[in-house]
Amino acid sequence: MSRSLIDLLHTAPLAGLSDSPFRLINRKFGVKYVYSEMVSVEGLWRKHRNTTNLLKILEGDSPLIVQLFGSKPDSFSKAVSMIEDIDYISEININSGCPVRKVIRSGSGSALMQNPGLMANIVAETRKATKKKVSVKLRSGKDTDCINLLECAKICQNEGADVVIVHPRTAVQMFSGLSDWSLIKEVKEALKIPVIGNGDVLNLDDAERMLKETGCDGVMIGRALVGNPWFFTKEGKKINQIFLDTVLEHIALSKQFYGSDKGYKMMKKHLIYYAKNMDLPGVNRKSYYEDICNTGSIENEIEVVKSFFSPLINL
Ligand SMILES: Cc1cc2nc3c(=O)[nH]c(=O)nc-3n(C[C@H](O)[C@H](O)[C@H](O)COP(=O)(O)O)c2cc1C
Repeated sequence: MSRSLIDLLHTAPLAGLSDSPFRLINRKFGVKYVYSEMVSVEGLWRKHRNTTNLLKILEGDSPLIVQLFGSKPDSFSKAVSMIEDIDYISEININSGCPVRKVIRSGSGSALMQNPGLMANIVAETRKATKKKVSVKLRSGKDTDCINLLECAKICQNEGADVVIVHPRTAVQMFSGLSDWSLIKEVKEALKIPVIGNGDVLNLDDAERMLKETGCDGVMIGRALVGNPWFFTKEGKKINQIFLDTVLEHIALSKQFYGSDKGYKMMKKHLIYYAKNMDLPGVNRKSYYEDICNTGSIENEIEVVKSFFSPLINL
């Protein structure tokens, strides 16, 4: 991959997936802009252990862009002030795009776009509370009758955001249909600050196409990175030694980060995706999936992985 392309890639916040082990696997391929999963501002300033744990990192997992969600400007201010002195956090990203019902019901995520005044206050309070970079991740709007992305992006810029990220689907769409890249172009043409495009980038060719078609300053990739270390290469999705070593390293990092017990459990979904994504149509994955769900220990998990993938190397 050309030096300049990797420098423009951002790995998306993915709740339940983009933990420190996963981020380190992505960093191995040279990605520089790496995001945490979303972290609750309420949980942070109240020091809830499960929330503050989301900020922990393994060595090498920096600089980290931390994504925060919430609906109260004051809570953003308190949470951001608390993490201001953590050196490995380089940037605060405000989640204004999450369409999940539980998040919207609390007035957070994409619900902020339905209340641009509140969004403005949150960006302004965050800006005031930190010297770090501030970015905002936006969707197109609530639904096709309310596409207010441009208005919201301008508000973010006016309130001091350094970057906006655009995932041009409506909240109602969730992840269905296709993202409308023309909206990324529209925002890019209207704003002075950098605009990062996001949505349906499945490979490096798509990333280059997004840059060219929209003029955006960077490309964020989400789902296409899960169980897919091939993303960063132009080779096909074949199993080779590098692939197997990457999967085993991912398990080892998970063990290091969570301990053996939680570590193997956290790996299950990743290990299913690693097999799902490979390009070997005749291979029966069913018993592998069952085995991964029933390993019971990290040692057994490693054995299941080795005995499934090793015979497939260089097929
Ligand atoms: C399982 C999952 C979890 C996600 N978690 C978050 C999140 O915590 N914060 C966020 O802003 N977006 C989240 N997203 C949205 C992604 O960051 C991204 O915007 C979306 O998947 C579109 O990009 P893609 O087509 O490259 O996947 C999540 C998406 C998925 C599928």
